[in-house]
Amino acid sequence: MNKAEDIILFSFLLQGVCFGDSSISLPEKIEALSGSCVIINCTFEIPKDKVKHLTESATGLWLKDGTDKPEVFNSKYPKPNHFKGEITGKLHEKNCTTIFYNISSNHNGKYYFRIESGDLKQTYTGKTSTVNVIESPPKPTVKLYKDPDQEEVLEGSSVRLRCSAETLCSSPPPTLTWSFTPRIPLSESSRQQELLISDLNFTATHRHHRVTFTCTITYQLQDKNKTAQDNITLHVQYAPKISPSSGCYRTDVTVCFCEVDGNPPPELEWLLSGRPVSNSSNTSISEERLNSTGLRSSITLHQSLTHTSSLQCVGNNTRGTARKLLQLPPPLTSLNLSSVMTGVAVAAVLVIVFCAITCVCVRLSTKLKAQNEAADTYASLQLSAPPSEYETLNIKRGGDTL
Ligand SMILES: *[C@@H]1O[C@H](CO)[C@@H](O)[C@H](O)[C@H]1NC(C)=O
Ligand SMILES: *[C@@H]1O[C@H](CO)[C@@H](O)[C@H](O)[C@H]1NC(C)=O
Ligand SMILES: *[C@@H]1O[C@H](CO)[C@@H](O)[C@H](O)[C@H]1NC(C)=O
Ligand SMILES: *[C@@H]1O[C@H](CO)[C@@H](O)[C@H](O)[C@H]1NC(C)=O
Ligand SMILES: *[C@@H]1O[C@H](CO)[C@@H](O)[C@H](O)[C@H]1NC(C)=O
Ligand SMILES: *[C@@H]1O[C@H](CO)[C@@H](O)[C@H](O)[C@H]1NC(C)=O
Ligand SMILES: *[C@@H]1O[C@H](CO)[C@@H](O)[C@H](O)[C@H]1NC(C)=O
Ligand SMILES: *[C@@H]1O[C@H](CO)[C@@H](O)[C@H](O)[C@H]1NC(C)=O
Ligand SMILES: *[C@@H]1O[C@H](CO)[C@@H](O)[C@H](O)[C@H]1NC(C)=O
Ligand SMILES: *[C@@H]1O[C@H](CO)[C@@H](O)[C@H](O)[C@H]1NC(C)=O
Repeated sequence: MNKAEDIILFSFLLQGVCFGDSSISLPEKIEALSGSCVIINCTFEIPKDKVKHLTESATGLWLKDGTDKPEVFNSKYPKPNHFKGEITGKLHEKNCTTIFYNISSNHNGKYYFRIESGDLKQTYTGKTSTVNVIESPPKPTVKLYKDPDQEEVLEGSSVRLRCSAETLCSSPPPTLTWSFTPRIPLSESSRQQELLISDLNFTATHRHHRVTFTCTITYQLQDKNKTAQDNITLHVQYAPKISPSSGCYRTDVTVCFCEVDGNPPPELEWLLSGRPVSNSSNTSISEERLNSTGLRSSITLHQSLTHTSSLQCVGNNTRGTARKLLQLPPPLTSLNLSSVMTGVAVAAVLVIVFCAITCVCVRLSTKLKAQNEAADTYASLQLSAPPSEYETLNIKRGGDTL
């Protein structure tokens, strides 16, 4: 910079600070949500010699799309075709901050401010604000904060999901809400709605794997709610977990199965008496991927191997190892078979004996009834309901045998 430029710059600054100038400060571009409101943050300067004219009765005007056009807003004399709004700044304090309500596409355009106060009449053409009306609100942003050297979130580590949103003029102010699918209970969360930042803090578990977290910004407008959302799907690495339903059953062979779930997808190994089992004719293994993280393995054991003391299922991945000892069903022997037969025989005998006893009892009671009838017909009639055909027959026969 040379001296001449220095002097020019200095005098320019001096003019602004000491003598006042005719500059205005307002945002170059503003987005406004249709159906909502817009605030034009605005301050202006006036030449020093005109300051005395600026009073509390000053009028603020807005022109749109050209200084030759009729005003769209007048703080003192609003007209029916004017935009609805108000100057919230104090004009005599050179604050021309304005709010426009009930925004529609008519509000699209370039705005010029004009001040009128006594002899002070000035339109600011140096700077304008361009209002861009949008139909749907801008999307919020969801970010995952984690240990920077981790590719994926590890089980047990703390996770922070932050939703942040640029807000537009709205009454009531917009709100942020979280939702997630599948639904899971969350341990911690926090909200800082005034900044329109919402944090979700929690400790990662396998239940958070592949859960999609959605953050929604909602603008409550007069006739409807307008929303926009962003989402993030969490990927959590976790050690294998063996399903408690894993176990063995017997058909004519012994089949054991083991279900393991883990991320990264685990590998599964069988240990028979502590030794790894290979896929052979005596021990055939089949594997099936249940989903991106789950694996099911079945092992079919030859008869000769079921005497073996233990069968273990081991699942491992880079996060860890899980083991489960499976209870082998007791071997099916000839002794067992004969004991089953004995059981059946005993049961049969018991049934026969029971039937015999019942028979005897029935006969005994009918005999007694017959005796009673013979002894006292009146009493018998009183005590019992009209005898059935069968009973009558029995009684007769009983009478015969007596
Ligand atoms: C308005 O402008 C003033 C001065 O430039 C600034 O301090 C303030 O944060 C602005 N307000 C908004 C809502 O932009
Ligand atoms: C101008 O007025 C508005 C509304 O009253 C206020 O929010 C803003 O802070 C004021 N700006 C300055 C620079 O004082
Ligand atoms: C908002 O503007 C629409 C048309 O642009 C009009 O129908 C409605 O009555 C206005 N609402 C208010 C509260 O001014
Ligand atoms: C959320 O976690 C961040 C750091 O990860 C911490 O600064 C903040 O205080 C936590 N918020 C709550 C409510 O626990
Ligand atoms: C807008 O959302 C609020 C709260 O989320 C709800 O109470 C209200 O009923 C909704 N209004 C409409 C028109 O959907
Ligand atoms: C997540 O956001 C993307 C892009 O915005 C969208 O395509 C997808 O449908 C959303 N998923 C869910 C579950 O909301
Ligand atoms: C399979 O079982 C047979 C007899 O039961 C045995 O001779 C053979 O060595 C077994 N094979 C393997 C691979 O264990
Ligand atoms: C075991 O061998 C059978 C037959 O050779 C094959 O179908 C099966 O996929 C193998 N299982 C595994 C886990 O390799
Ligand atoms: C995958 O399968 C395992 C085992 O059945 C189950 O625990 C897990 O919830 C499944 N994961 C998904 C994402 O469906
Ligand atoms: C699982 O364990 C076996 C031995 O126990 C090992 O060779 C293999 O690398 C492990 N796999 C993973 C993914 O860690």
